Amino acid sequence: MKSIEWNGTEVIILDQTKLPTSVEYLHCTDWRQVAEAIKMLRIRGAPAIGVSAAYGLILAFRESFHRGGSSVEILTEFRAFAETLRQTRPTAVNLMWAIDRVLQVVDTFTGEINELDEILVKEAIAIDTEDVALNVSMAKHGATLFQDKENYRILTHCNAGALATAGIGTALGVIREVHAQGRLERVYADETRPLLQGSRLTAFELHQDGIPVTLQTDNMAGYAMQQGLIDAVIVGADRITLEGDVANKIGTYSVAVLAKHHNIPFYVAAPYSTFDFSMETGNNIPIEMRNPQEVLQFQGVPSAPQDIEVLNPAFDVTPHELVTAIITEEGVLRPPFIDSIRGLQEKKMK
Ligand code: MRU
Repeated sequence: MKSIEWNGTEVIILDQTKLPTSVEYLHCTDWRQVAEAIKMLRIRGAPAIGVSAAYGLILAFRESFHRGGSSVEILTEFRAFAETLRQTRPTAVNLMWAIDRVLQVVDTFTGEINELDEILVKEAIAIDTEDVALNVSMAKHGATLFQDKENYRILTHCNAGALATAGIGTALGVIREVHAQGRLERVYADETRPLLQGSRLTAFELHQDGIPVTLQTDNMAGYAMQQGLIDAVIVGADRITLEGDVANKIGTYSVAVLAKHHNIPFYVAAPYSTFDFSMETGNNIPIEMRNPQEVLQFQGVPSAPQDIEVLNPAFDVTPHELVTAIITEEGVLRPPFIDSIRGLQEKKMK
């Protein structure tokens, strides 16, 4: 199931807000539709957000180009559109990474303005196809951590699967590989309140692929660990800093604390586009605050007094001390992360 596709004129987005009850695709012909889809979590998950922004920028360029004017006017408007796309969600750094990558191509382009369309299409497709390959490498590296037995039980939080990327997923990509190697007993999927990415997306995705999955509400993770049901945790990430602090879906930090208490390895799987090499510590990661209605209602039905205050951060930051290892396409990074992440940065800058 592809989360996003480009058909030459439209960005086709699988509307994840409708899953699992209905499979509906949005055919975006305007970059504003892509921006709305990102904001409303119709497409979500850090790498998938980056890919959609890259495709959205083709539509943005086409609009500016067809309005006409000088190259400078066209590109000034295009850059303004790119900035609006950048504002759609603040935490997943893959969004900024993809937009900056496309803008750099534009900034260094020396040809005629009418040739830029083709260049932008090429770059967006490259970002998309690279993500597919990164997922496969991550899966192979991640699976090396699961070689000691044939019945691993892995807990995951939120959805870091095919729906969150262009390929097989980050955390779920590793899980798929462990399963393919015959070493997975089952996945314990946290439901992931308030938007239920765990039950609506992860359980759906795994179940469709015939991978054994047990769904639990978020507050059952401690029970499952205490009962000895969990061998390891694998989650994705929205931003990883130089020190190895990890922003991911709200609730990830609680799972990491529980894992530490129970002496269970806590792994993070993420490609280089999720690393923010310009940020040292997780204290500086902007955390998206979302609409209180997501907490005051349960699928449209009020579930609390409607006029009370609500805390609704979309992400939290897991400090690096709680992270056992970070699985990347280049290999498994171990503490001290400040060194191993700098090593990754150097490799990528070559
Ligand atoms: O709010 P979401 O659904 O975009 O949050 C997604 C997550 O937190 C994922 O775990 C993360 O983006 C990694 S996806 C490979």
